[in-house]
Amino acid sequence: MIVLFFGDVVGKPGRELLVARLADLRSQLQADAVIANGENATDGKGIKPSHAEELFGAGVDVITTGNHVYRQRDTYRYLDEQFRLLRPHNFLASNPGRGVTVVDTPGGRVGVVNLSGDLYLYPAHSPFEVVDQALEQLHGVRSVVVDFHAEATSEKVAMGWYLDGRVSAVIGTHTHVRTADARLLPGGTAYMTDAGMCGSRDSVIGVKKELVLERFLTQLPVRFEVAEGDVWLEGVLIEIGDSGRALRIEPFEVGGGS
Ligand SMILES: [Fe+2]
Ligand SMILES: [Fe+2]
Repeated sequence: MIVLFFGDVVGKPGRELLVARLADLRSQLQADAVIANGENATDGKGIKPSHAEELFGAGVDVITTGNHVYRQRDTYRYLDEQFRLLRPHNFLASNPGRGVTVVDTPGGRVGVVNLSGDLYLYPAHSPFEVVDQALEQLHGVRSVVVDFHAEATSEKVAMGWYLDGRVSAVIGTHTHVRTADARLLPGGTAYMTDAGMCGSRDSVIGVKKELVLERFLTQLPVRFEVAEGDVWLEGVLIEIGDSGRALRIEPFEVGGGS
């Protein structure tokens, strides 16, 4: 089974490029399943139902999220109804949505778990405390991909080791900056600290750079806007064998007019 995993989709530029290119990428890379982090898909702040539908319609199988998931109030009910849109599993159980799902693909069933890191993100529960229980919900599903939405590289690396041999892949999101550490861990888990971003590189992690600089220089509140130029898709391809072990992990990028 081949899974394509895309880093945080930021605003309209990220959505538009993903929608425009996904069908070709799916066939070119012979992908069975597509996972994308959509926490910034609506103007950088959460994801509206219509934008989730846009990504599902383009061929995304599961949308994961993170700390921005509840920025759009009209998504709360949709999160309860749409089992292919996840929020971190380690939020309050009473919060809208779920953090674990299973989808059928041409290559077989794939389970997806969405977790939030602790550092600076303050989820209700430690991801390390609840991930075992999340995996119990996927008992019998061999291919499992974890989106670990976290700030600290150390916390992400630790989760990779904690889950090595128990899931097919642990891929980090949230920083919007791609790391150069994609590898297969010895137990058979594909690992990468951050998949990067689908959005503008003429920016500071997807936001217009002038506005971010103004905030740093003045230390006064500045309303952020999504940047539009030099848009790229950043993601990672994971090949999973019949046993659920990862066989291959390869980062890829698409954009810049290519
Ligand atoms: Fe993000
Ligand atoms: Fe985030």
